[in-house]
Amino acid sequence: MNFQLTEEHLAVQAAAREFAQSELLPGVIERDELQKFPAEQIRKMGELGFMGMMVDPKYNGGGMDTISYVLAMEEISKVDASASVVMSVNNSLVCWGIEKYGTEEQKEKYLPRLATGEIIGAFCLSEPEAGSDATSQHTTAEDKGDYYLLNGTKNWITNGSTASVYLVIAQTHPEKKHRGINAFIVERGVEGFVVGKKENKLGIRGSDTHSLMFTDVKVPKENRIGDDGFGFKFAMSTLAGGRIGIASQALGIASGAYELALKYATERKAFGVEIARHQAIQFKLADMATNIEAARLLCLKAAYHKDTHQDYSMSGAMAKLFASKVAMDTTVEAVQVHGGYGFVKEYHVERLMRDAKITQIYEGTSEIQKIVISRELLK
Ligand code: CAA
Ligand code: FAD
Repeated sequence: MNFQLTEEHLAVQAAAREFAQSELLPGVIERDELQKFPAEQIRKMGELGFMGMMVDPKYNGGGMDTISYVLAMEEISKVDASASVVMSVNNSLVCWGIEKYGTEEQKEKYLPRLATGEIIGAFCLSEPEAGSDATSQHTTAEDKGDYYLLNGTKNWITNGSTASVYLVIAQTHPEKKHRGINAFIVERGVEGFVVGKKENKLGIRGSDTHSLMFTDVKVPKENRIGDDGFGFKFAMSTLAGGRIGIASQALGIASGAYELALKYATERKAFGVEIARHQAIQFKLADMATNIEAARLLCLKAAYHKDTHQDYSMSGAMAKLFASKVAMDTTVEAVQVHGGYGFVKEYHVERLMRDAKITQIYEGTSEIQKIVISRELLK
């Protein structure tokens, strides 16, 4: 067993850290307050190779491993979790889904621009009445011969109004239940496709979350991903890797908050000494650091499983379940360490606390992660 990162891993980590500090930190408070999508920052992340990190270089990707992706996600998320969710959806759901299961034509058509961030993608599974219970899809894709007719509503779609390519899950054969579901590539601007209202959120407010409406949208047959009826397995398999990305986002939110708390504790004085000299504060820092290290190891282990072609659905779910709880606990304590200053925006920890909550909800709630884990244990 080797816990040493390679030179390449350290270089990716350093590049992501440098980018986050120099390009994301200035303006992050304003973007959060104004719910402003980090368009310029995402464009630069694309230029630096952060939007298609694991994509094969022949499709303009970075050809990197999942460990590099975890390291970069942590650094970006320390500063701006709104930018990192865009990165996570594009890398591990959209690019990975198309590269793993798409046809050669689909890969050549979509991956080169997705992998460079020239365009971004969205992953559309959730519906008003189908979140955790993802098999009960109400959106329909009627087979009309050489095309499908798509009707229905998707909810909570990240990159909803900024994406150019949407992976949409829909039911074609209701009598076959989840085995009748298909996945499609739908391009922005097709007739009958309307982007609904933007959600006004607690956290990750710079990200762009919308409902999407499809009314008699014609989707060419060649835009279906995989065989007829493969759509639910496509979604589950893609989400298994996506959860490593969100676990790393949670890890970054936690470690960002911890680093701020550590620094503040050595600067702020109370009762004549730095607050870091009070054991109550020291113990908080010790708990934070220990939990973050455990979350990091779970993220890296899941990434290692993926890179070495082992089953990673359980390790990814464990990483997400644990890291998202650590993100919540750590950010709450980081606000506490900052006292009143933690409650105002300039000190960043209140935003990280608000951002942390979503990591326990999207890409499968914590309860759903426990279902995934326990089913694997009881197999
Ligand atoms: N890989 C491939 N196939 C898988 C799989 C995996 N990891 N996990 C399950 N499947 C397959 C099963 O084999 C089964 O197929 P067969 O019957 O043909 O064998 C099929 O999926 C259905 O599985 P279950 O019987 O276990 O289905 P279920 O109804 O009990 O639900 C669930 C399973 C785990 C709860 C699932 O519905 C789920 O993951 N729900 C959460 C949905 C979710 O994560 N949504 C995220 C939306 S995207 C998002 O949120 C993005 C973002 O925010 C940024
Ligand atoms: P529900 O499924 O209604 O769950 C409500 C509560 O019941 C939860 O606590 C849940 O854990 C619990 N629960 C449900 N079933 C069970 C059970 N069997 N056992 C125990 N507890 C259970 N979706 C996409 O497809 N694409 C996206 O890009 C996307 N981005 C999102 C961005 C944001 C900001 C948000 C808020 C959501 C996003 N989602 C996206 C949707 C997200 O994946 C769902 O919100 C999530 O899966 C939960 O579904 P739900 O909201 O319908 O809650």
